[in-house]
Amino acid sequence: MIVLKNIQQAQVIFKNIRTKRQTIGFVPTMGALHNAHEQIILRSKKESSVTVVSIFVNPLQFGPKEDFNKYPKPFNKDLSICKKLKVDYVFAPTIKQMYPDKIVYTNISVKKYTGILCDKFRPGHFNGVATVVTKLFNIINPTKAYFGEKDYQQLLVIKQLVKDLNFTIDIVPCETFREPDGLAFSSRNKYLSKTERNQANVIYKSLLYCKQLILTKKFSLSKCINYSKIFLNKNILLPHKIQYFEIYDNNLSPVNNDVKQIKPNTTLRIFVAVYLGKTRLIDNMPVNI
Ligand SMILES: Nc1ncnc2c1ncn2[C@@H]1O[C@H](COP(=O)(O)OP(=O)(O)OP(=O)(O)O)[C@@H](O)[C@H]1O
Ligand SMILES: [Mg+2]
Repeated sequence: MIVLKNIQQAQVIFKNIRTKRQTIGFVPTMGALHNAHEQIILRSKKESSVTVVSIFVNPLQFGPKEDFNKYPKPFNKDLSICKKLKVDYVFAPTIKQMYPDKIVYTNISVKKYTGILCDKFRPGHFNGVATVVTKLFNIINPTKAYFGEKDYQQLLVIKQLVKDLNFTIDIVPCETFREPDGLAFSSRNKYLSKTERNQANVIYKSLLYCKQLILTKKFSLSKCINYSKIFLNKNILLPHKIQYFEIYDNNLSPVNNDVKQIKPNTTLRIFVAVYLGKTRLIDNMPVNI
C-alpha cells in the first residue's frame, strides 16, 4: 500500500495507471473509517484493478459552528484498516496542499436539490463537498467513484456534478450499511455516549415505522410523518431534537400527500436528521409503493 500526500506526485502516479489501461476505483472518505467504509472499499476492490481511498477532512464542508476541529482523525488506525483491506493507494493530502491560498476562489455549486433536507440546515455544505470532490476527481481521474446512500442528497449532488461537468466517471451508489441494531454506520457515531448509543437505533426504527404506515395506505404522508415523529420522541428518552423528517421521491421531488394518488411502482424515500445530544445523525429509507 502506498500513502500519497503530495498532489503532484499523486497525479503522475494515477495518470500512469490510466495510461496502462488499468481501472481506478475511488472511495472518498473523511477518515475515521468504519464498517461501511470497509464494505465500500471491498466493493471497489472487486470492481477495479486499482483502489484509491482518500482520507481528507475537508474544512470547506463544515459550517462555522460545526465540528471540524473535533472531527476524529485516527490516521494510523485508518491506515491499518486500509492495509488490512489491501487498498492500493491512500491519498491523504494536507489542508495546505488542497487549499494553498487558504481561501478558494473557485467554488463548485450544484444548484439542484437546494433548500431542502441537509442543504436547508447546512448552508454551503454541499458546495464544500462538490468543490473538494471535483478537486479529488481531477487529481485521481478514477474510472468509478463510490458514494453511500446514507448521504443520499450528497449522492444526487455528485451525480449532477458529474453530468454537468462531463466527468467520465461512473458514480456507484452503495446501500446503507448498518450496525446489528439498525443504526447506520457513521464516523459521528463515535461522539455518542454509551446511553445515547443504546437509544440511537430508534432513528432507524422510526424510519421502519414510517415505512409501515405509508404501506398501509391509510394515512396521508404528513400524518405518517407526524406519527413517526411522535414514535421517535416517545422512544428516545434522552435530550434530542428532530431537525427534519420528510418524504420525497427518489429524485428528491415533492410527492402527493395522498398516498393513493401516487403512481404505483414509485419509490418514495423517507429522510430524517436528529440531534441526539450534540451529535447530528442522518438516515433515510426507500419505500416502494
Ligand atoms: N452507513 C453507511 N452506509 C453506506 N455508506 C456510508 C455509510 N457511512 C458513510 N458512508 C459513505 O462513505 C463515504 C465517506 O463518508 P464519510 O467519510 O463522510 O463517513 P461518514 O460516516 O458519513 O462520516 P460523517 O457521518 O461524519 O459524515 C460517503 O460516500 C458516505 O456516504
Ligand atoms: Mg459523511
